[in-house]
This record gives sequence, C-alpha cells and structure tokens, in this order.
Amino acid sequence: MHSNLALALLASLLGVLPTASANLYTKNSPVLQVDHKTYDSLIAKSNYTSIVEFYAPWCGHCQNLKPAYEKVAKNLEGLAKVAAVNCDDDANKPFCGQMGIQGFPTLKIVTPSKKPGKPRVEDYQGPRSAKAIVDAVVERIPNHVKRLTDKDFQAWLSEDDKPKAILFTEKGTTSALLRSLAIDFLGGIKFAQIRNKESGAVEKFGITSFPTLILLPGGEAEPVVYEGELKKKPMVEFLSQAAQPNPDPAPASTSKASKKSSTSSTSSVVRGNAKPTQSTEPIVDVPEDEKPAQVPVKAPELDQLPTYEALESTCLTSKSGTCVLVLLPATESPDADLPGPAKEALASSSELAHKLSQHRLPFYSVPAINTGSKTLRNQLGLSEETAVEIIALNGRRGWWRRVAKIEAWVDAIRLGEGHKNKLPEGVIVEEKDEAEKQEEEKQEEEKQEEEKQEEEEKKKEEVEHDEL
Ligand SMILES: *[C@@H]1O[C@H](CO)[C@@H](O)[C@H](O)[C@H]1NC(C)=O
Repeated sequence: MHSNLALALLASLLGVLPTASANLYTKNSPVLQVDHKTYDSLIAKSNYTSIVEFYAPWCGHCQNLKPAYEKVAKNLEGLAKVAAVNCDDDANKPFCGQMGIQGFPTLKIVTPSKKPGKPRVEDYQGPRSAKAIVDAVVERIPNHVKRLTDKDFQAWLSEDDKPKAILFTEKGTTSALLRSLAIDFLGGIKFAQIRNKESGAVEKFGITSFPTLILLPGGEAEPVVYEGELKKKPMVEFLSQAAQPNPDPAPASTSKASKKSSTSSTSSVVRGNAKPTQSTEPIVDVPEDEKPAQVPVKAPELDQLPTYEALESTCLTSKSGTCVLVLLPATESPDADLPGPAKEALASSSELAHKLSQHRLPFYSVPAINTGSKTLRNQLGLSEETAVEIIALNGRRGWWRRVAKIEAWVDAIRLGEGHKNKLPEGVIVEEKDEAEKQEEEKQEEEKQEEEKQEEEEKKKEEVEHDEL
C-alpha cells in the first residue's frame, strides 16, 4: 500500500513535469524528424543530400538555431532534406554516440556517394545563418544533369530509347531545381541541359525562348514542351507522363502545392517569362543580425538581350507577357554614368532581385549595341542613348511604362495599377494562332489565380517574419 502510493505519486509527478525528450520541432515543422530507426532509410539510403541536426531540446544554442533551421527547411523544400535527431531521447542515444556527437547542436551534411547506402558525412562548421547553411547544402546536391553541346547532343539522344528531358537555358550552371528533378527520376529519365548558344540543337528542336524544358518520352514519340511554371511540383507531374519518380522524394510542403499542370500541351511556342534561377533557387530572408557581414550582397544577374531577335522574341511579340527592360546607355562601361533613379534601382538590387523573382517578373538588360534598343527608344519617345531607361512593357496587353520608384513600381505592375501608356503601332510583332491564343488566355487566368495564392502566402510569410 505504501509503495503503491509512492508509485502513484511518482507517476503523477512525471505526468506534470515536462518530459525531458520532448522534440524541439513540432509535427507541423518543415524540419523532418528522424530517429535511430529511420535514419538509414530516410537519410543514408537517399539519393538526396541531407543536412541533419543532432540536438538536445534543453540546449540553448539549439533553441536559438530553430528559427533559422526551419527557414533552411522551407528554402530547401523539394531540393534537399533538412532533418533533426533528438539525442536526448534515450532510444537515440546510442545512435548519436555512433555518429560521434559530442556537443549540441551538431550539424552534419550527408551527401550520397557512388556506393548506395554509403554516403559521405561531413560536419557543417560554417555560420549558423539560414543563408550560409542553405548555400552549403545546395552546393552538395548531386548533379546528374549532362551538359550537352552541338557536337555531342545527337550521340546522347541516340544512346538508348529511354525517356529524356532537356532544359534549354541561357545559363552555364545547373540549377538546384533541375538537379533535384534528375534525382527524382534517376534511372527513369535522363537529364541534360543545352545552352542557347548551341544553335544546332536549338534549331533542331525549334526552341525560341529560354528557359524551355522539353521531354522526349522515348522511342518514336514526339517531343513535348513544358509550358507550366518552373516549379517543382507541376514539373514532376509533367515528367511523370514518361516515368514514375523514385519512391523517395525530397519532402515538399503541402501549403505550396501548385494546382497547375500542363501535361497535355504540345505547342512549340513557350512563354519565356520565368527563369529557373530566379523563380526556384532558394532566396533566403535572414534577419539583419544573422547575415554574415563579410559576404557582399550579390547583385542580381540581369539576363542580357544582346540582339534585336532576342529582344523581339522575348518581349516584343503579341504574346509576350510583362518584361522589365533596362536599356543601357551607349557608353563603354555598362555601369558608368547611371542616372539617379537607375543607380538607386540597381543599388537596392538584392531586394529588387528578390522581389522580381517572387513575382516572376522577367528582368533583362539591353545593351546599346542592340539595334532594337535604339528603335524602341525612338518608338516610345524616350531620351537619347546616353541615359539608362528602365521600362516595363507587355506585348499581349499592349502597354508600357517607365520606371519610377522601383519597389512601388513592382507592386503596381503586378497589381495592374498606375498609369500605363498604349504601345504605339509597330512595336509589337503579331503572332497569330487562335488555338494558342486561347491557351494563352487560359494560362493568364491561371497565372492570376496563382498570383493571388502567392500573395496570400507572402502575407503568411510576413507574419512569420514579424514573429522573429
Ligand atoms: C535512387 O536511385 C536509383 C536509380 O539509380 C533508384 O533505383 C532508387 O529507387 C533511388 N532510391 C530512392 C530511395 O529513391
């Protein structure tokens, strides 16, 4: 009786005390919770790169890291795994010991090697800011994407009958998004990328804008052009028509699910108004005090439209969506003599790049040697070639406007506000095809729908920022 009472007391005491091993990350956290049993299948055997935090819930540095680490998980969504192991949980203690954990938190990056199930495991010892961690992980995402040139693309195509996907791009590097897609379809679809300057390949597939993803389903089947958004989920859906993705995708959050998929489209005309590196590379918002001071703010890479043809096909057809153009002055150095507004605009460039990419507004620079630049200035009645002009125009809708204050202005374009000018005759090149036009209009509606969703997400994000 005595001992029963003692037991009951003890039990009730234990019940009210917080359990020492309560996890730091809740069920709703974007951070993947892993333990001694699941580590092997979820992390070690994965074709994805992972970062794993070994922590104890009572550790102050672990608690401090939590907001940044959750941000890392959100930014790497669909690209890599961001996991945590609670080493205070008795069941995990031997495992944490085996992993050589001596202090909390310990961050380890786990990169797949050639030998399945035998990944390379390294301690992450860089700054504990979201951006630094994201960069370190992105760098280690395996690259199964072959870079092809005019010389070797035919040989690659005829290697076998397997489904193949090719991204035509202006970029020389392989984006994290494309690498992650190649991982999802490893063994099922072979991936390659071809630069815009490989004119033989570009012509063979009739590619007119960049980036464009095409799928060669295999055998005799015709190539299919992807026309959706350059986002993970709809792209996986599109590619799934040729092969099933592997069973172990990098976790994708449910809230960002995009409804759109364009699996049935076979048109050869592509909207060129989304860039993989702008719309899909993680952009990390780190509170000011978390930013490593020594890292210079990176200016956005403006894609150049060097020729009149590039300018016309990208922005000046009757099907072109909104384009933002920086018409550069006719000086030797492109950034000499920037007038006030342009300088200001480019100085706040990291915010600008962020903002433009958030809303997927394509942003191009047009050098003065591009004859289209002069023509456009004349047609729109803009100043002479000694000044920078930043303009936005939309061929489909037939409007253009000059840029005043960049931030307000991005919002205004996106929301359709502000004064717009009618584009004069002759600027826009007609490109007619009724069926395609209807498709365009449908896409435009869908895009607006998505933008609404995005806006809501952004609001949510802002709330989260406020809490930090
Ligand atoms: C990893 O890739 C191979 C193809 O190389 C595939 O068979 C396997 O299912 C993938 N593993 C996981 C866990 O998805």
